[in-house]
Amino acid sequence: MFRLSCAALAFISVSIPISMSIPIFSDPSFGAGSQSRSWPSLRAPSKSTLSGLPYKNWTLTDNYQGEDFLEHWNFFNRSDPTHGLVNYQNAANAKHKGLASVQGKSLILAVDNKTHLAKGAKRDSVRISSKKLYNAGSLFIADFVSVPAACGVWPAWWSVGVGASWPNGEVDVLENVHKVNNNKMTLHTSVGCTVEQLKPNQLRGKVDRTDCASSGKNNQGCGVMDYDTTAYGDGFNKAGGGVYAHTWEKDAIHIWHFARKDIPEDIKNGAPDPSKWPLPTGSFVAGSCDFSKHFHDHTLTIDTTIGGDWGGDAKGLKAAHCPQTAAELVEDPKNFDGASIEYAI
Ligand SMILES: *[C@@H]1O[C@H](CO)[C@@H](O)[C@H](O)[C@H]1NC(C)=O
Ligand SMILES: *[C@@H]1O[C@H](CO)[C@@H](O)[C@H](O)[C@H]1NC(C)=O
Ligand SMILES: *[C@@H]1O[C@H](CO)[C@@H](O)[C@H](O)[C@H]1NC(C)=O
Repeated sequence: MFRLSCAALAFISVSIPISMSIPIFSDPSFGAGSQSRSWPSLRAPSKSTLSGLPYKNWTLTDNYQGEDFLEHWNFFNRSDPTHGLVNYQNAANAKHKGLASVQGKSLILAVDNKTHLAKGAKRDSVRISSKKLYNAGSLFIADFVSVPAACGVWPAWWSVGVGASWPNGEVDVLENVHKVNNNKMTLHTSVGCTVEQLKPNQLRGKVDRTDCASSGKNNQGCGVMDYDTTAYGDGFNKAGGGVYAHTWEKDAIHIWHFARKDIPEDIKNGAPDPSKWPLPTGSFVAGSCDFSKHFHDHTLTIDTTIGGDWGGDAKGLKAAHCPQTAAELVEDPKNFDGASIEYAI
C-alpha cells in the first residue's frame, strides 16, 4: 500500500509521491445540531499521552486511489498566485511531460528537471486541487512517501475555500521551503479570527502566532511549528515519509504527523480513531473565531512552486544555506533533482 516504484521515477525530480490513497472520512453525527462550542478540552499529556478527543465513528466517504486518481482533481493552470517561478501545467501537458502520473502504487507530482531555462523563464510544475469540496466534520489522511527537498522549492499539502478572493480560509497542513526538516502548519483567514493560545502540553508542536488574519503585507496567518526532524524535507524522506492526518471540526482543526514507523494501526487498517492517537502535532482551537464563517467549501490542494513569496525570500534562502537566488536556481534543472526517490520504501 505504501510502496513506491523507484524505477518509475526516472525523469522526475522534485516530486511528491504519495501513497495511492487519500481516504477521507466524515462524522455522520455532524450537523445534528447537538454540538456546542465546547469541543477541545484537550487532556494534559502528564495525565495521558492520548489526544483527549472524544471518540467518533468516522465513515469513509472518499478514497482517492488507483489509476483514476487524477480524474478527481483539477489542474490549476493560471499563473502562481504566490508569485513562484513556475508554469503550472494543465492536465494533458502535465501527463504528457511526465509531471503527474500514477506509477505502481504511487502518485507522482514533479517539477521539470530536464530543461535548461533562459534567464527569466519559468519552470514547469503542477498544482492539483480536488474537484470535490469539503467542510467541517471531515478527517483527511494523506500518506506521503517523500516530499520535495531542494533549495528554492516550496511544496505544500493544503486546502482553501473556493470562490471569494484569498484569504478565504486556508489550512496548510504540510508546508515549508528549501531543505529544512521542520514543518509549519498554518491557518489563513480574513480579519477577525484569532485562535486560542494553547498551552505547550496541549499539542506537540510549538505555537507561533494565534492571529490567523492575513492582510496587506502580513500574510503570516496563525501557525504551529513542528520541530521534529522527521516532519518535512530530507528528514521526512529519510524516515520513509509518513502520514499527515487532520480533522476539521466545527470548533477545531487538529493535525498529526506520523513518521512511517509510528503510523497507528487503526490508520493502516482503514479505521482511523483519533481519540486513540497521541496529542496532535498542531492544533487550532476556534476560541472566539467563528470557524464556520472563515472555513468552508475547501478544495484539497497539492502543489510545488519555486521561489515566490516564501521560497524566494532572500533571508530565508540564506538561513537555509542556499547560496543562490530563486531566479538563479530556477535556470538549472539539476537543482531540481529531488532526493525523494532515495528514501522511497
Ligand atoms: C530528475 O530527477 C530524478 C529524481 O531525482 C532523477 O532520477 C533523474 O535522473 C533526473 N533527470 C534528469 C534528466 O537529470
Ligand atoms: C458507524 O457508522 C456506520 C455508518 O453509518 C454504521 O454502519 C456503524 O454501525 C457505526 N458504528 C458504530 C460503532 O456506531
Ligand atoms: C484550466 O482550468 C480550468 C479549471 O479547472 C478548466 O476549466 C480549463 O479547461 C483549463 N484549461 C486548460 C487549457 O486546460
